[in-house]
Amino acid sequence: MPKVKIGIVGSRFQADCIAASVKAMPEEMEVVAVASPSKGSAEAFARRHGIPAFYSDYHEMLRDPAIEMISITAPNRLHARITIDAAAAGKHVVCEKPLCVTLEEADAMIDACAKAGVLLMYAEELFFAPKYVKAKQMADEGAFGRVHLVKQGEKHSGPHSDWFWDVEQSGGGALMDLGCHGIAFCWWFLGKQKVKSVYAQLSTQVNAARTQGDDEAITIIEFENGALGVVENSWNRPGGMDDSIEVFGSKGQTYADMLMGNALPTYSEVGFGYAVEKASSTKGWTYPVFEEHWNYGFPQEMRHFARCVRGTEKPISDGETGRVVQEVLYAAYASAGLGRKIMLPFRPKGIAKPIDLWKKPELAQAAL
Ligand SMILES: NC(=O)c1ccc[n+]([C@@H]2O[C@H](COP(=O)([O-])OP(=O)(O)OC[C@H]3O[C@@H](n4cnc5c(N)ncnc54)[C@H](O)[C@@H]3O)[C@@H](O)[C@H]2O)c1
Repeated sequence: MPKVKIGIVGSRFQADCIAASVKAMPEEMEVVAVASPSKGSAEAFARRHGIPAFYSDYHEMLRDPAIEMISITAPNRLHARITIDAAAAGKHVVCEKPLCVTLEEADAMIDACAKAGVLLMYAEELFFAPKYVKAKQMADEGAFGRVHLVKQGEKHSGPHSDWFWDVEQSGGGALMDLGCHGIAFCWWFLGKQKVKSVYAQLSTQVNAARTQGDDEAITIIEFENGALGVVENSWNRPGGMDDSIEVFGSKGQTYADMLMGNALPTYSEVGFGYAVEKASSTKGWTYPVFEEHWNYGFPQEMRHFARCVRGTEKPISDGETGRVVQEVLYAAYASAGLGRKIMLPFRPKGIAKPIDLWKKPELAQAAL
């Protein structure tokens, strides 16, 4: 089958990850274009990754009839607009997390793609991370009996780009940025059950001078069958990215540390090139990872999406997945605002961004 031709929107952190991940699976897909507005960056990105075409305006890229699938790696506030434009141009869409900023945007993205007859695929790579996939396979086989508690944590020292810290552009803090992974993970791991309630404790412990957003977040998700998901997020953990899970059932448990658990415990007095995402130093004791993208599942995720475009697989992470996550994010911010558990469905209308439900509890109260 011919390779799926991909255009990337954005040319920085996640765009690099997607381009490298596609290159790791060269039989089934290729990046043929990139679009990014900052002067020269699309061109530099194209040269770095050997991509033939580059644009400063993604609308121009969407006019290329050869492109079948768009990967959106632009800031959160642009996800909905770009998805709707890509769908109108007849392109399948892979959208990075979180799906968007508001529930209305989620609805509009899903509708636009359905109307255009294109796929909307939600890029939650934890569904493809080999260690986590193994944990789920064992759970589904019954290895742990009835699973009643799933924990997922993603923590690091804070985002690399300014827009994440500006809640007008991001929609929220560590919960929105990192918690979207844990919410999706617990939901997926427990068989995509309905969410019954959400409780969250949010605070800004270290970065109040830099952001209105939460930099510490603990979220408890109660599922229909009584099982719990616990999601822990932080922008205050120096020492490199920490991504791990714990799974508990009536007959057993498993633990997986995606990065440190796959790393080489290393001591160096002089340091070296690179250890792991967001590690500020490589001197002293560090945990350098290898096959970082593979351990996260990015190449496997993009291969799955390419196969979905070819019709040989069905998306295991789609617009609906992103909308479930978005509703839980709304409920979590509302919970923190009101200091109580929020029952789902919880779909308040007209909320400009999830974090408003924490900062203005009256909005959350009015939605109950
Ligand atoms: N799945 C993951 O683990 C993961 C990891 C990192 C980021 N992300 C997500 O990917 C998205 C991008 O994050 P990032 O870390 O790459 O951010 P970044 O700041 O490093 O890059 C953002 C890119 O978007 C481009 N951009 C800005 N406005 C644009 C526009 N109007 N049209 C086209 N491009 C535009 C910028 O020029 C830049 O190249 C975010 O939604 C983020 O949450 C996901």
